[in-house]
Amino acid sequence: MTPNPSPQADAPPPPRHVAIIMDGNGRWAKARGLPRVAGHQRGVDALRGVVEAGQEMKIDFLTLYAFSSENWKRPPTEVDDLMGLLRLYLRRELRDLHRNGVRIRFIGEWRRLAVDIVKLIEDAESTTAQNYGLTLVIAVNYGSHREIVEATKRIAAAVADGAMAVGDIDEEVFATHLHTDGIPDPDLVIRTSGEQRLSNFLLWQAGYAELVFMDVLWPDFNKTSLEQAIDEFHHRERRYGATSG
Ligand code: IPE
Ligand code: IPE
Ligand code: MG
Repeated sequence: MTPNPSPQADAPPPPRHVAIIMDGNGRWAKARGLPRVAGHQRGVDALRGVVEAGQEMKIDFLTLYAFSSENWKRPPTEVDDLMGLLRLYLRRELRDLHRNGVRIRFIGEWRRLAVDIVKLIEDAESTTAQNYGLTLVIAVNYGSHREIVEATKRIAAAVADGAMAVGDIDEEVFATHLHTDGIPDPDLVIRTSGEQRLSNFLLWQAGYAELVFMDVLWPDFNKTSLEQAIDEFHHRERRYGATSG
């Protein structure tokens, strides 16, 4: 007999990997007559909250799209603000994240960022590498097209060197050459702010993810919003090309 079953005893398990396109910081600020940076600052608060919620909900992998390879097209001052917030986040949060058993991984071409940020990222990854709680994957200077082209080049080089045969290339081998090597594909991709597109995010990996588009602007996203998205996910039927079972 199970003593004191919790009210959520029958709740389905959460998706293993949730990925989020955090969008709408600029519109949040504009609606309040504030500069865009104020939206990004509040966006970091929302990010902190969603990481905590992810831990409470026992999600294994949470991937957050923080800066795309296309976001360099923004005015330099905004890019500086975003990089400044990334610095601040890593400096301020690493200790708590580590204490809570969070493992941190970065995807994207983050090695091309400012040297001090590269150092902070390396430090965050190595400090938390042995943790076995939530894996927080942060996508910075990330773009799927570039990721796929780079994977292709590395595979082509291995073939040219004779280290790999063309016949050895399959989906599994290809996936190990992506930045997400070792990370399961996302089950659920959420995009906030009402936009309904992927903006070059996890194009390979999200091949069979459920997509949930929400009208909430990212700074207003909270645990309840995450629960709503997961509830929607649980109402979807994932068929993977087969017939309904
Ligand atoms: C998301 O908010 C943050 C990043 C893309 C870095 P936006 O800055 O895109 O906000 P909107 O889309 O202009 O409202
Ligand atoms: C996608 O948002 C990138 C991130 C959330 C980091 P954008 O606001 O840059 O995307 P577009 O320009 O609307 O497609
Ligand atoms: Mg946007």
